[in-house]
Amino acid sequence: MDRIEHHLFVIFGATGDLTKRKLLPALYRVMNENEVADRCVVLGVSPGRLDDDGFRRLCRQALTEAGIADTGTDRWAEERIFHQFVDRDAPLDELRHRIEQIEAQCGLPGNRAFYLALPPPAFPGVVTALDHAGLDQAPGWARLVIEKPFGSDLESARALNQLVHAHFDESQVYRIDHYLGKESVQNLLTFRFTNPIFETTWTRDRLDSVEITVAEDLGVETRGGYYDGAGVLRDMMQNHLTQLLTLVAMEAPSSFTADAIRQEKVQVLESMRSIDPAAVVLGQYTAGSVDGAASVGYLDEDKVATQSRTATFAAVRVNVHNWRWEGVPFYLRTGKRLAERTTQIAITYKKPPVCIFHGIADDCPISPNVLVLTMQPHEGFEVRFELKEPGTARVVTQPMSFDYADRFPQLPSAYQTLLLDVIIGDQTLFVRADEVEASWNLWTPLLERDDIAVHPYPAGSWGPPAANDLLTTGDDRWTMRMRW
Ligand code: BG6
Repeated sequence: MDRIEHHLFVIFGATGDLTKRKLLPALYRVMNENEVADRCVVLGVSPGRLDDDGFRRLCRQALTEAGIADTGTDRWAEERIFHQFVDRDAPLDELRHRIEQIEAQCGLPGNRAFYLALPPPAFPGVVTALDHAGLDQAPGWARLVIEKPFGSDLESARALNQLVHAHFDESQVYRIDHYLGKESVQNLLTFRFTNPIFETTWTRDRLDSVEITVAEDLGVETRGGYYDGAGVLRDMMQNHLTQLLTLVAMEAPSSFTADAIRQEKVQVLESMRSIDPAAVVLGQYTAGSVDGAASVGYLDEDKVATQSRTATFAAVRVNVHNWRWEGVPFYLRTGKRLAERTTQIAITYKKPPVCIFHGIADDCPISPNVLVLTMQPHEGFEVRFELKEPGTARVVTQPMSFDYADRFPQLPSAYQTLLLDVIIGDQTLFVRADEVEASWNLWTPLLERDDIAVHPYPAGSWGPPAANDLLTTGDDRWTMRMRW
């Protein structure tokens, strides 16, 4: 692929979990699938006392664990992977020399990506040090990739944006929300803006509600320390669910370019005003069982404060106040240790205005049409229609579905897509500065409240029953496969 230029991919946090599990396998796959493995040189940066060979061993192990078993990995590791020790908060002049030396050795033209796979408190120090060492500019391009969470509220996100902009131009900055890299999430735009059959009905005149669910069966695993300070609103709502909402709600962009698309997403956020605390249900998991296995409660997780009130579940009703969406509620829900892992968007249509089937059944037997877009674990979609059951007078619901795997057995991972975009310089799937602030602006007032009840729910359930009370439209049936 010609768009992939020779470059140096510098990873801060080179020995961390994200690098091993996601970044290295994704980088290798991207390069290998495009048959340009030699164009990517990786320089891992960490405060670990590792030499190049030590880091290469770690990389090979990471690739093997990711199920990559082709013969090219050894060569890639041997010729294209390096490590540089950098003490925490140390100046980066030595790193700059090493970069120049590796570029000369590998014949690179000076294109550089700096990936901050680091805990958020480390971001400001590294961004400043990169600039001080002259690494904000490069003989080719210099790009800065920042993992989520970008800030922990509006004020900190603004401060981080200011700091980043003091050292880098926005055109160099790639704020990651890995949900945007998922194929099924990207397909949302294609689905909407290539199929007028749906898009023309995607309005307040036709729709009853939109439900977005990101349910996880996992708990906080080894991240109790981070999670207890963050909670579900910061960890999932402000970023992943808000991103899904903007893609569902945005107007058609003037073109399929980064700025046109991101502009429309920001407009959605700006139309949302504040969230009513009465339309928020929070929960925290207690002991239970997930998929037959006993599971401890959140308060017994490692590094979680004994009396913690941190929410691991949230269900929220929000409104987008614009011409398209006024009056159509969006229900957003996410939680840990729920009954199953699923990410779904359900678009529920209004029922016919008059039920002409009265008399056949006691109540109007018609269910609304529903379009369910499933993002994970099985990407696909389903449209639910009403039909006459042959030989009877009954009306029954029939789903028509499409599973991505039937047509496309292999989907690239989110990180493959995102890393490729960093390398080719496409910012479409990254969160712009004003977008991240608009999103925090929406959620920060809720984060500042401590008077919202946190309901217990057993691990393996669908969250607190109080979430049902959020429904204000439709009938008593939830449209999602997931029941609450
Ligand atoms: C991360 C959150 O951003 O997304 C995690 O910090 C969460 O808590 C994860 O588990 C979910 O991602 P995915 O791709 O597994 O749905």
